[in-house]
Amino acid sequence: MRIWVNGALADAGEATVSVLDHGMTVGDGVFETVKALGGRAFALGRHLDRLERSARGLGLPAPDRDEVARACAAVLEANPVELGRLRITYTGGVAPLGSDRGDAAATLIVAVGETPRRPDTAAVVTVPWTRNEHGATAGLKTTSYAENVVALARAHERGASEALLANTAGMLCEGTGSNVFVVLGGRLLTPPLASGCLAGITRALVLEWTDAEEADLPYSALDEAEEVFLTGTLRDVQAVARIDQRELPGAPGPVTAKAMSVFAERMAADVEP
Ligand SMILES: Cc1ncc(COP(=O)(O)O)c(C=O)c1O
Repeated sequence: MRIWVNGALADAGEATVSVLDHGMTVGDGVFETVKALGGRAFALGRHLDRLERSARGLGLPAPDRDEVARACAAVLEANPVELGRLRITYTGGVAPLGSDRGDAAATLIVAVGETPRRPDTAAVVTVPWTRNEHGATAGLKTTSYAENVVALARAHERGASEALLANTAGMLCEGTGSNVFVVLGGRLLTPPLASGCLAGITRALVLEWTDAEEADLPYSALDEAEEVFLTGTLRDVQAVARIDQRELPGAPGPVTAKAMSVFAERMAADVEP
């Protein structure tokens, strides 16, 4: 595998960053996961917009958009994959050992790995940990993802592939790497960004392409929902078939099935929606 690191492609074994990189020592960085479809990055423009928003939110200099796009193109060309996870990482660069930033340039890494097509349905779990919708990094896609690592490990322990979190007010928020939609009384609803969830690109596209609406939802909406689905770059729209012990027989239900097919159609029709 050839990886882009700080301005050039390198073989995976030689692609390195400093052990003093602030992304490494304190998680001072931002990232994007982009879907690579037949060698092309899906919705790259939206991902680059979000990368810049996340960087600015951390107080990092805005990444050079043209360089990031060039790096993505070079990595995709050097590593042909049918379906891939294109990962952009952008950190504070070499810095002192504490939380203060140094004056070094930011670090940019772009890599791609082949990924299997996701199953159409998923099992999810609820967890006791919350998203802090009031935190300094709420809504930013930072490399400080250890809370998600812990929650996702809990999901795997329980035979599920995602954990869904509430926020500090007990409202439904998002998954460790996905947004969540529920069908209640026939309406398709998803938590607003004020819940602290990430502004998922798949979420935004589903809001544009279906009649889904944003609504404040208690965490307990998961007990009552007629249908539930997840959205995410590598999940697209994925039906939820089990939440903890509760089975949702027949998943994907009719609203979810329609969202899945609309999403698949629109995605195939336009690589840069
Ligand atoms: C915490 C979190 N929420 C939601 C999402 C879904 O966002 P997207 O649809 O842009 O992949 C992701 C994954 O990227 C995420 O990490």
